[in-house]
Amino acid sequence: MSINNYKMSKEAQNKNLHKAKNNKKDEFYTQLPDIENELRHYKEHFKDKVVYCNCDDPRVSNFFHYFSYNFEHLGLKKLIATCYKNQDADLFSQNDSDKAIYLEYDGDKNGNNIPDPEEIGIIALKEDGDFRSKESIELLKQADIIVTNPPFSLFREYVAQLIEYNKKFLIVGHQNAITYKDIFKLMKENKLWLGYGFKGGAGHFINTEYEDYATAGDHRDGMIRVSGVHWFTNLDINKRHEDLILYKPYTLEEYPTYDNYDAINVNKTKDIPVDYKGIMGVPITFLDKYSVEQFEILGLSASAGYSEEIVGIPFLGDKDARPLINGKNTYARIFVKNKKI
Ligand SMILES: C[S@@+](CC[C@H](N)C(=O)[O-])C[C@H]1O[C@@H](n2cnc3c(N)ncnc32)[C@H](O)[C@@H]1O
Repeated sequence: MSINNYKMSKEAQNKNLHKAKNNKKDEFYTQLPDIENELRHYKEHFKDKVVYCNCDDPRVSNFFHYFSYNFEHLGLKKLIATCYKNQDADLFSQNDSDKAIYLEYDGDKNGNNIPDPEEIGIIALKEDGDFRSKESIELLKQADIIVTNPPFSLFREYVAQLIEYNKKFLIVGHQNAITYKDIFKLMKENKLWLGYGFKGGAGHFINTEYEDYATAGDHRDGMIRVSGVHWFTNLDINKRHEDLILYKPYTLEEYPTYDNYDAINVNKTKDIPVDYKGIMGVPITFLDKYSVEQFEILGLSASAGYSEEIVGIPFLGDKDARPLINGKNTYARIFVKNKKI
């Protein structure tokens, strides 16, 4: 089988994608410049590593493209990509095969520095290429680093599997996932953090299926704009060691204490007081600026219910566990302490 069987014209690609009736809205594709922009911060992690893209149809995945074309530059050992065969039987009907497959690439053999079709091994899968399938898990076990944009609807399960198999990873997800109990717990324990991210906190993804609600100025043809997307990783990056520069002194008036927590409210991350020793409730976007040496994450208060494990600090109220000031709800807050004071 040759990679050519899997190469499609843009038109055929769009037609096929259009047929993918996935009402979970998981079918949109990451642009190459967005992958390049993030990955340039991680080069040192990839030397001699096996990279696995496990939600990636190589015909449309720019992750496969990025890693195959940068194989030598990054010094990779091997690249694996699995293609999920969607339940929709029509999805790949324009191709010679409607089977799920995986690809292996061991680098350039003929010295032209380009991943040629004959250098890429294409192997049929017996199962459907689901990242949870036995075959995909066997490939996962071989891999050192998993890099992809997985289906957002399965994000929890997806991350849980990576943690279970003790893998390094760099994946795209929605920032709403931060408030999922299991995801936040990992972030609090410094087992997961945010990468560098998309410009303006929003990404344009290749898409022909869903309606784009972006305003005229933000709309791009053939794309869907998704705001609140971010990179999630457990690879160490400089960013998480860069202290936030603080300059505002604490005052009682500007930083009121919550009715139901022994913590002060901070509305903007940049306004975190430079001299406050105690617990502070900061916006969730703080995590984008979080330096592991500067702050300790204690917990998160995002809903009316109190769970000691997630909120992390004692609850002093009676019912509503959202952070309240004079009986009024503020926004979801992360509780942190400055370790350097
Ligand atoms: C958000 S898209 C991103 C695709 C690709 N990784 C990219 O960034 O261009 C998520 C992909 O995961 C695939 N997918 C959905 N459920 C899956 C599953 N259970 N196992 C593996 N892949 C799945 C979808 O078909 C879709 O192509």
